Amino acid sequence: MDLSSYINIIKNSGVVAFPTETVYGLGASAWDAVAVKKIFEIKGRPPDNPLIVHISSKEQATDFASYIPPSAQLLMDTFWPGPLSIILPKKSKVLDLITAGLATVALRMPDHPVALSFISQAGPLAAPSANRSGRPSPTKAAHVKADFGDDFPVVESEAARVGLESTVVDLSGDVPVILRPGSISRRQLEQCLQTSVEEFYADQNEKPRSPGQKYSHYKPEARVRWLDDNEPTSDSSTLYVLVSRQAAGPNILAYENDLKRMAAELYDRFRQADIEGFKTVAIESFSDKADDIAAALYNRISKAVQ
Ligand code: TXA
Ligand code: MG
Repeated sequence: MDLSSYINIIKNSGVVAFPTETVYGLGASAWDAVAVKKIFEIKGRPPDNPLIVHISSKEQATDFASYIPPSAQLLMDTFWPGPLSIILPKKSKVLDLITAGLATVALRMPDHPVALSFISQAGPLAAPSANRSGRPSPTKAAHVKADFGDDFPVVESEAARVGLESTVVDLSGDVPVILRPGSISRRQLEQCLQTSVEEFYADQNEKPRSPGQKYSHYKPEARVRWLDDNEPTSDSSTLYVLVSRQAAGPNILAYENDLKRMAAELYDRFRQADIEGFKTVAIESFSDKADDIAAALYNRISKAVQ
């Protein structure tokens, strides 16, 4: 199918998966309640978990946000298009289905030529990651098909470049707060805004400010655990993911401190581990401050380990 067929599906209240630089999204027209409802049904997504609205220009933000503070403008000018979702107070016409009844809306302009072309023609798209709830986010078109079937409409493109979901930053309050770490780091946001940025990743004991944080994500069927220091990499039913340690073997992946590449491949490795029948994925730990993607990568692995 060509892009115009997918645009037609969106215009007829359908749902289409599309590529972005982070992970594939499951898109529906942001102004179409019938279509947005289908996203929740297809994904099996709890209705209290809001969706990000994907736009193709900064100007479109004003259709959804009731107020764009100077800090938001600065972040948009610096990081858009890119893997940063910005939470702002919403206009009343924004569908409650998208925001799960919250007074805010999350907006993102993806850094992907196909996504931008698709959105500019189909209109703004409400889109979560295009995985079945509870499965790792899809970084390849094949992952979407594995979750939703071979006939599911997917605008195909290459493997996602970043591989982890966008940084979610809440600018609706007095201080900027990161609700989900992503490849755009706290350091980068603070440097841009020239102010301190807080982090609030809810664990199970707290009331989550970003509802998605309370749901378990990113898990393969195999058990994911941290590798112990000095633990041998000799069990054939375990897939070993090494950061700085060096070893070779059919079930050993050594990333030589390249956390960016590890992030890009993580969800595909999780899915592949299941396909190849590994019982365990053991991952060497690392500092979550090692580089800009480290906090996000550490966060996603920690969630899979829980
Ligand atoms: O990179 C990404 O962000 C990908 C691609 C497709 O753009 N999308 C994605 O969407 O990861 P999803 O639905 O899987 O995650 C969206 C996260 C959830 O944790 C949700 O709770 C949070 O953003 N979120 C959305 N709107 C929010 C709001 N108004 N207030 C707080 N959190 C919000
Ligand atoms: Mg998701």
